[in-house]
Amino acid sequence: MKNKVSANTVLITLWTIALLSLLVSSCGTKKKEGSGNNVPHDDEKITYNELVVGYAQLGAESDWRTGNTESILEAAEELGVELLFSNAQQNQERQIKAIRTFIAQQVDIIGVAPIVETGWESVFQEAKDAGIPIILVDRRADVPEDLYTTYLGSDFLEEGRNAGRIMVDLLDGKGRIVELEGTVGSAPAIDRANGFREVLEDYPEMEIIATESGDFTRAKGEEVMEGFLDTYGGNEIDALFAHNDDMAIGAIKAIEAHGFRPGIDIKIVSIDAIREAFQAMIDGKINATVECNALLGPQFFELALKVANGEKVPKWVPSDEGVFFPENAAEILPTRKY
Ligand code: AHR
Repeated sequence: MKNKVSANTVLITLWTIALLSLLVSSCGTKKKEGSGNNVPHDDEKITYNELVVGYAQLGAESDWRTGNTESILEAAEELGVELLFSNAQQNQERQIKAIRTFIAQQVDIIGVAPIVETGWESVFQEAKDAGIPIILVDRRADVPEDLYTTYLGSDFLEEGRNAGRIMVDLLDGKGRIVELEGTVGSAPAIDRANGFREVLEDYPEMEIIATESGDFTRAKGEEVMEGFLDTYGGNEIDALFAHNDDMAIGAIKAIEAHGFRPGIDIKIVSIDAIREAFQAMIDGKINATVECNALLGPQFFELALKVANGEKVPKWVPSDEGVFFPENAAEILPTRKY
């Protein structure tokens, strides 16, 4: 009898402990919810050392991209963030697969530079369903706003407009232009083309005689420029607008091989502001480069930490960018990181 009573007492005590711990844990949850917009208290916030980030890079197609990747890797290392990095080698399917792997690995945040604008809805929805925020870096995706948290990157439209304004000055409002486009369907190719045309609309004597994609690579830039020169002949082309410096550098080879002087016979405006474009400006072969900032690593992780801690962030964080000309290229070149 005595034993039975003590067994019951043990049972009741165990039940009481279980009930109490349940209450305590639900109080804990309440406290988090009550702290406004799901922002945890300072002592509950995670730090860089606890942050796990998956980054789906699109490829290694240009010097810009190499600089961008280095910036992401270096910032993660410096801040102590655990980074799972994948390079899709210019293939959307591979990029989607990488995002799915990050979802399965339950990372805190996924960063992605979408190779093209379309085709992301299902995989972004999967990330949302798994409670993992998506941060778009460098390029936007054409998806409903609730499928990503923020976009960190350039104003590609303005880059195109800047290139257009410079071209108008270089050609004095009159001339035949060939255009090397970036990857078909990518945000920078679409916006840079539109921005450029927006400016040219006011100049009826500025004509884009040919447009073709060089996929943001040197090799294709050279190949497509060869085609333009074969079709029109160098005397019929006054200028080249290249959506990135790598394609412009490829095109310079083709122009010289055809016996023309890049930067003089055929004016060149391109985008990115990579180190080699500065050298080409010093050599008189590129007339201007519009900056597209590749050094997004520190800003990306700052955003990722804020998002992981439930803090509000703007829907678009634009990067700071300038325009560079041959006049001060030699002075600026040593300061360029990519
Ligand atoms: O998305 C940014 C663009 O991608 C850069 O201008 C180009 O060089 C890169 O490949």
